[in-house]
Amino acid sequence: MAIRLFYGNALAESVGAEHGVARAEIDGLKPRAKGIRAALKKMRANGEIGFYDLPYDRQGAAASKKLAKHVRQGFENFVLLGIGGSALGPICVHTALAHPYHNLLDKKARQGAPRMFFLDNADPEWVGRLAEAVDLKKTFFSVVSKSGSTPETLAQLMVFHQAAAKAVGARSVDRHFAATTDPVAGPLRALAVQRGWPALDLPANVGGRFTALTTVGLFPAAVEGIAPEKLLAGAAAMEKRCRAEDLWKNPAELFAAIHFLADKRKGKMIAVMMPYSSALRDLADWQRQLWAESLGKAKALSGAGVHVGQTPVKALGATDQHSQVQLYAEGPNNKIFTFISVNRFRRVCPIPRSLPEIGELNYLAGHDMGKLLNEELNATEFALGKAKRPSVRFQLDAITPENLGGMFFVLEAATAVAGGLYNIDPFDQPGVEEGKRATAALMGRKRPEDAAKRVEIAASRKKVGTKNAV
Ligand code: PA5
Repeated sequence: MAIRLFYGNALAESVGAEHGVARAEIDGLKPRAKGIRAALKKMRANGEIGFYDLPYDRQGAAASKKLAKHVRQGFENFVLLGIGGSALGPICVHTALAHPYHNLLDKKARQGAPRMFFLDNADPEWVGRLAEAVDLKKTFFSVVSKSGSTPETLAQLMVFHQAAAKAVGARSVDRHFAATTDPVAGPLRALAVQRGWPALDLPANVGGRFTALTTVGLFPAAVEGIAPEKLLAGAAAMEKRCRAEDLWKNPAELFAAIHFLADKRKGKMIAVMMPYSSALRDLADWQRQLWAESLGKAKALSGAGVHVGQTPVKALGATDQHSQVQLYAEGPNNKIFTFISVNRFRRVCPIPRSLPEIGELNYLAGHDMGKLLNEELNATEFALGKAKRPSVRFQLDAITPENLGGMFFVLEAATAVAGGLYNIDPFDQPGVEEGKRATAALMGRKRPEDAAKRVEIAASRKKVGTKNAV
């Protein structure tokens, strides 16, 4: 099996009943898991949720490859404009599967792929300086937004469209743009139609943070020369595993059940994801959004106030052993850890006997760097277990497009199941709306409700007081 989920270190028999989940507690969730499985199956059949079917959607892969061919033939740079779910999946695909120093390589070494840039913020320095740093005549812009109306993304677009128009002329500028968005709705779709941009469809029933396996992730993957079909094949293999009706054999249900029980019964309000691979560090970043935005909710499905959701934290092994692990081992025992390990790295890097005079460290010589990283994980897992800190581990045989697709799928499915266990809607995000409305009002939007919002914000500022600062 290419991906395995080890859960022994999360169990009471390993870390004690106070901190670990008892097998009987997992068994106790079986009836609920059965109900959640049936409910999600029904939502899938009704077309209410689309992410379960993405592994089998060949259209997105075909459209992505076609457009990617055009980009690879004509452009030196690829810039993805997007934020949140529209950027985190593509960034993760790039970090996991491209050469770590991709943009430093020449085109031959990049195997025909352009240099890749991902903007997932509205930071003036990063946006403005990228427009100066790349040759805009040789740059393709992929504008990604499910809603088509996200201000950060549209602001990035407005900056780059004007800069590109200056560089290549108003007549040619639209050859440098494509949109990935809702098939019909939203301003970005309208703009793409009006300007004749190629546009990739995003299924209407797949929310932003569940789009890694749609054209959002597949198109930039194809631009980099990664076959989208491989990501989908891995996701399909995982989808089949996640159909298992025995909770103990279903990796998505088991991950969700352990995390839910750890949170609600063992006080593990923080979920740390710690890959021991720099290539997988952005998988933890992607999952952080998925877990936080899906499960952090004020209201249960019944409407009752609940305020649930673990706080996801991303960490990186072994780097964060020198930053976070002191806290993880001795601080409050309020965390559950998900390690991700890789059996075979794509590159060996033997540690030579190059400096025999450093007698103290000679034990390292003769081993591979990959062994060092993996033993660091084994050691941290052991040390945290000894300190009664529960953990699970995803073990990947290698970092491949198939395994990345599998990881995207299992973590999405686990999130959906966890939503059921918490009895909340994991597919909405009402908590971010107030901030969005306030931003639009502060930026001077002129909808009727914006004036009232500005008054409300001014009153709040007055109450907080500008003098309360040092
Ligand atoms: O999961 C979500 O819906 C959000 O986090 C979105 O991904 C994010 O807000 C960006 O939205 P959009 O893709 O509509 O630009």
